[in-house]
Amino acid sequence: MTSDIEQYRVQAEPYYQAQGREIALYEAAYRKRLPVMVKGPTGCGKSRFVEYMAWKLGKPLITVACNEDMTASDLVGRYLLEAGGTRWLDGPLTTAARIGAICYLDEIVEARQDTTVVIHPLTDHRRTLPLDKKGELIRAHPDFQLVISYNPGYQSLMKDLKQSTKQRFTAFDFDYPEAALETVILANETGLGEDMAGKLVKIAQTARNLKGHGLDEGISTRLMVYAALLIQDGIEATEACRMALVRPITDDPDIRETLDHAIDATFG
Ligand SMILES: Nc1ncnc2c1ncn2[C@@H]1O[C@H](COP(=O)(O)OP(=O)(O)OP(=O)(O)O)[C@@H](O)[C@H]1O
Ligand SMILES: [Mg+2]
Repeated sequence: MTSDIEQYRVQAEPYYQAQGREIALYEAAYRKRLPVMVKGPTGCGKSRFVEYMAWKLGKPLITVACNEDMTASDLVGRYLLEAGGTRWLDGPLTTAARIGAICYLDEIVEARQDTTVVIHPLTDHRRTLPLDKKGELIRAHPDFQLVISYNPGYQSLMKDLKQSTKQRFTAFDFDYPEAALETVILANETGLGEDMAGKLVKIAQTARNLKGHGLDEGISTRLMVYAALLIQDGIEATEACRMALVRPITDDPDIRETLDHAIDATFG
């Protein structure tokens, strides 16, 4: 990974519709360089918010999608074997600490705990990152900030963050926006008329009420954006909604039928 800071800049202002006081609160957290955790269901605007904040603060953003196979070396860096010997290559966390980026670890709960703990010294007063294999101690650039996202819905007893990790962060609870806001988001994001956007929101709310009654997760704002884009492309609304809102989220025939009925009733 090169350290060319420009490639990590958020080029254009991302469209972000605030749900509450999160922008001002994030700015305060950033002023004090407090680590931030953004919690919430899939597709509710967590990543968009972080991109927007990086743009607003004018800081580079380095995003890492975490997974269970990820090792500490994937974050921190490793020696590469080359013809002439070995060469050290910084991982994304190291790059972020060096250049003063906002480092966004997406779905941190997926990572194994021995991976997660490497962020600890960066999150307290030390603001350091030991590169054990290289024998180097990095002092984080003054602009560096750590942000993690976390979907409490996927959480099980096996997969949760340790308290010693959780308690290093300030946190935001995100959720799907309330109806009027989500309508505005759909309209602004896709150009769909508010009337039609409002109908998509109604369908999503039907599905969200089924959460815990056969559905693990309601319809996300992301999927509603998909439906809106298909409709904007000329696909008939009922067909777009089946494809974008229903088929992805469940294989249960009864729930599909319930949702298909809701779609027909809305557009009928
Ligand atoms: N407040 C918002 N303002 C603007 N767009 C939004 C907002 N909330 C959601 N969206 C739309 O929903 C899409 C999905 O949001 P995003 O990618 O931020 O989800 P996420 O919470 O990071 O999900 P995941 O946990 O799956 O990564 C965005 O691409 C955007 O189109
Ligand atoms: Mg995301």
